[in-house]
Amino acid sequence: MKSRIVVVANRLPVSWDGERWVTSPGGLVRALEPVLQKVNGSWVGWAGNSGDAPGPFEHDGIEQRPVPLSNDEVDDFYYGFCNGTLWPLYHDAVISPEFHRHHWRPYRTVNQRYAQIAAESVEPDDIAWVQDYQLQLVPGMLRAIRDDITIGFYLHIPFPPIELFARLPWRRQLIEGLLGADVLAFQTRASVANFARAARRFGGAESVGRRELKWQGRSIKLQRAPIAIDTAHFETLARSEGVQRRARELRHELGDATHIFLGVDRLDYTKGIDLRLKSFAGLLDQNVGLPRRYAFVQVAVPSRENVPAYQELRSDIEQSVGRINGDYGEPGWSPVSYLYRSLELEELIAYYVAADVMLVTPLRDGMNLVAKEYVACRRNRSGVLVLSEFAGAAEQLRAALIVNPHDVDGVTEVMRQATEMPEAEARARMQRLRRTVRRETVFEWARDCLAMLETL
Ligand code: G6P
Repeated sequence: MKSRIVVVANRLPVSWDGERWVTSPGGLVRALEPVLQKVNGSWVGWAGNSGDAPGPFEHDGIEQRPVPLSNDEVDDFYYGFCNGTLWPLYHDAVISPEFHRHHWRPYRTVNQRYAQIAAESVEPDDIAWVQDYQLQLVPGMLRAIRDDITIGFYLHIPFPPIELFARLPWRRQLIEGLLGADVLAFQTRASVANFARAARRFGGAESVGRRELKWQGRSIKLQRAPIAIDTAHFETLARSEGVQRRARELRHELGDATHIFLGVDRLDYTKGIDLRLKSFAGLLDQNVGLPRRYAFVQVAVPSRENVPAYQELRSDIEQSVGRINGDYGEPGWSPVSYLYRSLELEELIAYYVAADVMLVTPLRDGMNLVAKEYVACRRNRSGVLVLSEFAGAAEQLRAALIVNPHDVDGVTEVMRQATEMPEAEARARMQRLRRTVRRETVFEWARDCLAMLETL
């Protein structure tokens, strides 16, 4: 790796815990840390608070360059345009995206600020690698200030079909912003194709084959690069005596049910948690008289709690959990265990180890790493993964039981099938899934993305 790399992302890879900076958990940070350390790289991002930001500092051998956001910008840029407009629009408009000019303007201003700080952080021939939907104008803005660097962009969420993207009043500006990059990378083939179509229609780009665009005399490469996890890390933790013991304890705490179902999601309307609960209720309905056979654990990680749609969703889900437990529970026992919190990694892995059936049923999801984490933790090749056809992971994890999460009865049926699957079939499927998550880890992902940028 010869060039320096500057990652430009909405959030820094560190957060302030009141006393010191701590590295945030997650695969992206884990994968990029060693790469950035090696090349003396920097990371430009928001520290998660409003108001002034500290000056540049070093953490774990990586230069951190905090971007300040004012109170109003947190409301209008982060909650407003990023999470009230782009997030629902890019996830199949599962709730209606809001289009407000007073959110668009701060989106532009804040993107310009990221571009400016990134421009000050790079030297000639460096690579600036811009991440995700919050910063789609940054490639173009950065190129306008510095044309002596290579610019990459990675979209972690889906790029929507043109019929949906077309609704956006600022579609041309976003496409032009993205086309400022030299390489644009996406999670799935579908996203690559959707973007290419939108770039031709709204940006006047021309396709050269399926993976290249020509625009304003420049060539822009398109790449499919599905993000992944540090598989070995999950495997090691899943194997540890502490986790194994905790998994046995959990099974016992869950009433020694014959079949433990598990859902783990940020509490987000794209994740299909409410429909999943209905499907589980359907399964309980089919098994009246055998209530203690099934236990369902839903871990819902708090997220974007200031947005009304997330508050409503939380209350709907909590009502459903209450209804199901009221209808099917018994004194001292409830079929649904609902945890509204994030878990420590080892505790989460103990749940993966304890669960017989993992339910990953989003209505739309860029990738979904929970599906990959579950597979990585199934060391004895047992366990069944039920996976939505609308998760990016479904392009790779073909041996899962693939479902349409909108089909409540269909998912109930697949849940039943999962509990009755012959052991040999379950093992064969899990073995195929494990082969994929072992071969394609987050380190290969980072290597492939950066290799593409390095060769330009
Ligand atoms: C998704 C997005 C990320 C985002 C994360 C958490 O995975 O692709 O860019 O950081 O959700 O959301 P938050 O709004 O808390 O950063």
